[in-house]
Amino acid sequence: MASFTSLAHPNIAMIKYWGNRDNTLRLPVNGSISMNLDGLFTRTTVNFSASFPAHKLTLNKRQILGPGLERVSYILNIVREMAGIKENAEVTTENNFPAGAGIASSAAAFAALALASSQAAGLNLKQDQLSRLARRGSGSASRSIPSGFVEWKMGQAEEDSYAISIAPPEHWDLTDCVAVVNAGHKKTGSTEGHALAGTSPLQNARVQDTARRLDICRQAILQKDFDALAHIIELDSDIMHSVMMTSNPPLMYWQPATLRVFQAVREWRASGLPVAYTVDAGANVHVITLREQSKMISKKLNELPGVKNVLTANVGGAARAA
Ligand code: DP6
Repeated sequence: MASFTSLAHPNIAMIKYWGNRDNTLRLPVNGSISMNLDGLFTRTTVNFSASFPAHKLTLNKRQILGPGLERVSYILNIVREMAGIKENAEVTTENNFPAGAGIASSAAAFAALALASSQAAGLNLKQDQLSRLARRGSGSASRSIPSGFVEWKMGQAEEDSYAISIAPPEHWDLTDCVAVVNAGHKKTGSTEGHALAGTSPLQNARVQDTARRLDICRQAILQKDFDALAHIIELDSDIMHSVMMTSNPPLMYWQPATLRVFQAVREWRASGLPVAYTVDAGANVHVITLREQSKMISKKLNELPGVKNVLTANVGGAARAA
């Protein structure tokens, strides 16, 4: 059986996925919208062979056992069943972005794994099937399969919960300037976080209003309306963090420096700069801006107290062979 190498970008959500109606299948309680992050990627090689005694996972040159291997094996076993094969796989994967840089690695990782493992097993899945497969490893990975600006439709069932591209990368020259702030102790991961979302009395209100926010965000992207985009992505991020903070137990991801970046971004926008913030399940702030302003914004972010460094990424393409 052939080996296959793939590459996928991480993505930053503009309308967030938070909470599942089925935690195993990763069927979300709401749709979400994101953009892929160019320049940052996971590269993964999968090789199935009858001579391998078990699945094996090597991440950034280190062998991974335990929950990490189990999560990858779950996807490999789905692929084996689809392909009707019994061989074990060796998975070798590398990220070109540092861990703890404020970029979720699971999205790029499971998008790359879905593509490489299905191809290595002899399957030639269509984009929607790949997105569904990636989704089962990590919900946000469904959005790293298609290109550019992407919407994950929540769907009615397993079969129709996948992501599609709503605009190619060249549609709009946006840049994500990630302000990496001093992180505190170890955070609760997204998977545990999704399971807690329903314990917040605010989650129902968040979910019920999501179709409206998705429409506004999709239109803002299609019309390249930065002000509308800025308003809706900040609102969506703030609502998700309100749910997190009011869950039981509560999740508080923000650090003092996170708030300092929020304040600076709001001041800069009031003074006419195209900037908006959004935060995932961590303390680092993704500052979205226009590409032509990104050098200047990145410099200004670097000067804020508590900001350790700034990573920048333009809009990225689809998961692909590498
Ligand atoms: C806050 O996709 O990382 O980044 O499915 O358990 O892997 P799992 O969760 P994950 O959740 C992402 C949460 C978020 C918002 C988003 O990316 O939409």
